[in-house]
Amino acid sequence: MAFEQAWLDYSRKLSCEGAGKIASVSIAIPEDRQDDLIGNSVTELQRAFLGLFGRELSVHTGTKACDGICLAFREGMQAEAYHVYEDGGKITIEAADSSGILYGVFALLCHMRTGGSLSGLELAKAPVMPMRMLNHWDNMDGSIERGYSGESFFFEDDEILVNDRTVTYARLAASVGINAAVINNVNVKDAATWLITERYADKVRELADVFGGYGIRLYLSLNYAAPMEVGRLNSADPLSEEVRAWWKKQMAYIFQKVPNLGGFLIKADSEGRPGPFTYGRTHADGANMLAEAALPYGAKIIWRCFVYNCQQDWRDEKTDRARSGYDNFIGLDGQFLDNVILQIKNGPMDFQVREPVHPLFGRLTKTNQMLEVQIAQEYTGQQRHVCYLIPMFREILAFHTYVAKEHDTVEDIVSGRTFAQKNCGMAAVANTGNDENWTGHDMAAANWYGFGRLAFEPELTAEEIAKEWIRLTFGMDEEVEETMLHILMTSWKAYENYNAPLGIGWMVNPNFHYGPSVDGYEYSRWGTYHRADHLGIGVDRSGEGTGYALLYREPNASVYNDKERCPDELILFFHHLPYTWKLKSGKTVIQHIYDTHFEGVEMVDEMVERFKKLQDKLPQKAYQRMLERFLHQKEHAREWRDQINSYFYRKTGIADEKGRKIYG
Ligand code: GCU
Repeated sequence: MAFEQAWLDYSRKLSCEGAGKIASVSIAIPEDRQDDLIGNSVTELQRAFLGLFGRELSVHTGTKACDGICLAFREGMQAEAYHVYEDGGKITIEAADSSGILYGVFALLCHMRTGGSLSGLELAKAPVMPMRMLNHWDNMDGSIERGYSGESFFFEDDEILVNDRTVTYARLAASVGINAAVINNVNVKDAATWLITERYADKVRELADVFGGYGIRLYLSLNYAAPMEVGRLNSADPLSEEVRAWWKKQMAYIFQKVPNLGGFLIKADSEGRPGPFTYGRTHADGANMLAEAALPYGAKIIWRCFVYNCQQDWRDEKTDRARSGYDNFIGLDGQFLDNVILQIKNGPMDFQVREPVHPLFGRLTKTNQMLEVQIAQEYTGQQRHVCYLIPMFREILAFHTYVAKEHDTVEDIVSGRTFAQKNCGMAAVANTGNDENWTGHDMAAANWYGFGRLAFEPELTAEEIAKEWIRLTFGMDEEVEETMLHILMTSWKAYENYNAPLGIGWMVNPNFHYGPSVDGYEYSRWGTYHRADHLGIGVDRSGEGTGYALLYREPNASVYNDKERCPDELILFFHHLPYTWKLKSGKTVIQHIYDTHFEGVEMVDEMVERFKKLQDKLPQKAYQRMLERFLHQKEHAREWRDQINSYFYRKTGIADEKGRKIYG
């Protein structure tokens, strides 16, 4: 198995009804419209047929020789959409543009490789999210912030890498519909500040061109203080004429060098990064200054809403980090230029295993919005624990904000339906690195695969996506499929069970965000507290507390505000409760903590037992690599269980009803 090909490994032979006769690809597309994407579409088909069937496809231009697979443009279709169909043994892939053709090719190959037949074939899809983006947190020295699968394959020793792996990356990303990627960390420091200058422009262009050949727009994260660091100005004030002129000049330069650059991602006034606050200006002032400079080039400014005070005093019970994104941005709704998109994390804190949906969704009504999720498993097991996140993302997308009578879900908002927007979509903090299998844990690749598929077709279920990924990666074997599917589909719940309970989050080692440390964040400056004492636990975010619950529209606000109605899984996020509080499940808080922690470990034990039965069915290298991680997860889940259970037993003195072993 060629692990670096991940789900595009064509080395496993395939028998597919109707494929036997296909021996050619015909390009029925006017020559002046045949770009790199068309070339890459053809190459992909050739590569696949050679690998899967051992057959060389011949390539023809024009309609005449069209008796195998025919690529054609059809006007009137939606951008990036495809239509693939069989007629008299011939397969036609049509689209309005070359991205659609490429997506049609990947859809055809996926169909064939997951058990579909070609006779009567009919596949037609248009992407639901306009932007389907990966955010890489790669640093130019080759390290990756929150990277769990090796080093960067974009950067090494302050240089940009463009090589075979770049092409494979682009193929993998495009095959699941990714159409934009930010290659550098949002915390832009050191060499990365210079990515927009002559030092790197030629290499950025080379990379942007490789991406472009797969329908992926390259984006860069910007250092807001670049006018000072690069331009030697003494300010980065967004209202200063000098600063504005500097950005205009710098944008003119970089877009002349890299005309297909998509735009920029900016983390400003957050966790020590510079921003407009220094000058008493707003985020709208900052974003609009950049948007104006980027507008002539059709580029976008993606501005992150992850802004909070990270110097909080834990004694201060009034300040609530959960409110900060909302409080910082809600007053700016309607002030951003149209090429600005606000990128909003799925929850108000920071990618915990369970959080409520960010309250800006459904409150912003005049601003372009993008949902940011994290497939890098920073707080969800760091790609050593398996944690398939697509079920979580689906829940977030399905959340009703009540912003409108219909089309009011997060999915509606970020796909542009609610407010008729085009500059919107979904971004994921990427989980890739230079490990042979890209994602460290082989099963973590399901999150990369799944994110793209979900952003393209959010109507797919998490199971459907998982099945596809399993078949493409490990072939068509019922036992493999059933086992892997079971593991993936139970993994988020298992992880949640043995982690911090009932939506409270955090309880991790502050430095690495890995492993249990119940009070790890309790007296820190990060605004992330559980406030447990011997009587109760949780943060009062109701109207009587920080008021956070009331930021939502009705009926969400009333539901969250009321301890009797708030869903169990978020109850400690919204309320401080006694350990003896009866949950809707009928259990007390303390018994829930004990039960879920024992159950979480049992779920992992079951996963591992099932996984071991696949020993003879998986490539040995992959089996061993996964087994090692599963065994670690098994141990580590116990550590979580025992530390959390002991902590609460010691605090409360309340014994487990079922008399299981808890360390006193
Ligand atoms: C988290 C993460 C940081 C990251 C930040 C962000 O706090 O731990 O590494 O920089 O999120 O999203 O900007």
